[in-house]
Amino acid sequence: PYPVYEKLRKDDPIFKVMFPSGEFGWIISRYEDAVQILKDSRFSKDIVKRYGADGQSIFSSNMLFSDPPDHRRLRGLVQKAFTPKLVADMRSHIQSIADVLLDELPSQETMNLIDDFAFPLPIIVISEILGVPAEDRDKFRMWSNTVIEASTGQNAELFQQHEREFTEYLTAWFAKVRQEPGQDLISQLVIAEESGEQLTEKELLGVVSLLIIAGHETTVNLIGNGILALLEHPEQRDLLIQKPELIHQAIEEMLRYNGPVEFSTSRWASEDIEFRGQQIAKGELVIVALDSANRDEEQFKDPDVFDITREKSAHLAFGKGIHLCLGAPLARLEGEIAVSTLINRFPNMKLQIDVDTLEWRPGMIVRGVKEIPVLLK
Ligand code: HEM
Repeated sequence: PYPVYEKLRKDDPIFKVMFPSGEFGWIISRYEDAVQILKDSRFSKDIVKRYGADGQSIFSSNMLFSDPPDHRRLRGLVQKAFTPKLVADMRSHIQSIADVLLDELPSQETMNLIDDFAFPLPIIVISEILGVPAEDRDKFRMWSNTVIEASTGQNAELFQQHEREFTEYLTAWFAKVRQEPGQDLISQLVIAEESGEQLTEKELLGVVSLLIIAGHETTVNLIGNGILALLEHPEQRDLLIQKPELIHQAIEEMLRYNGPVEFSTSRWASEDIEFRGQQIAKGELVIVALDSANRDEEQFKDPDVFDITREKSAHLAFGKGIHLCLGAPLARLEGEIAVSTLINRFPNMKLQIDVDTLEWRPGMIVRGVKEIPVLLK
């Protein structure tokens, strides 16, 4: 998509389009504009205000689709579980999950990097935080994929079916947790819901499904896209093997170079807004092309060069403003452990097929490859 983005930044940085839903909206492709829009509270995320209560599915009854004060309340309820300190304490545990996954690969010769490693790692971690059985991960994956790929506007029936199944699964799980609460995050949220003040049943479903989806659709692609970038730039991989302390910078560069979230979720103009000479009418949608902003030549020197020694990259892969990714500390740590462990264990790993034949996931939000077959030795 990058040549298209380059053209958009140059010729149409605030570009009007019609979305699959038939609504008008704007795509923002420059870095500076992206930052401004993401920080401007006149662009609302409140789904109920925009579409009425009927427009709200369980996947939008959460912090990502609300404005303050609801946003603050809903984010506050889970923030405690994702502080940098708590996340850092999980390092050795996440490391052992990565080691076990690699020890137990079906073969030590080849693997599918996504299914065998990049996908299970973050899922096991988020399942443990939430307290849901990691063995159910195939179901979570199917439901999450449907929700994310629904952004193509297709498959409305499948979406409804999977929304129903996901809701039934979680509702049954909450009932079980109410009988026997544990130390996990869902137990804390269920207790908060029962107190009757902090969140509704629908919001409980909303926040838990958001965490499951966010945990499934993003970090897997940080690991996948990141390793892919190293395989395409073996000199950068060798540098990282020589200087392991570069891992923090390398992860930031992976996030900038091929960020897992291609577009922000949409905002809508709560009033008529003039923005850089364009008239954005009240009710129109605005979407930020994060992966375009991250290649903006006004912000990054040689933006198309993958350089793990790049300093202070200030990319927008985690968004910006009040909706800045809550899971960023966790995603960074998982990314660091996954990438370091893989390249140290398999320093000669190679793609098994031509890079141009890799198939990218459909949909506008997630940028990631379906399968990455590699030779390990
Ligand atoms: C929000 C990216 C991993 C939980 C966001 C947003 C982005 C993002 C761009 C803002 C969207 C917008 O403003 O429209 C990423 C990337 C990840 C990642 C690139 C991995 C590399 C995670 C993980 C979790 C998580 C692992 C949780 C376990 C959330 C939540 C929000 C969010 C709860 C909503 C925050 C709010 O509305 O205040 N993420 N995410 N993310 N992310 Fe992530």
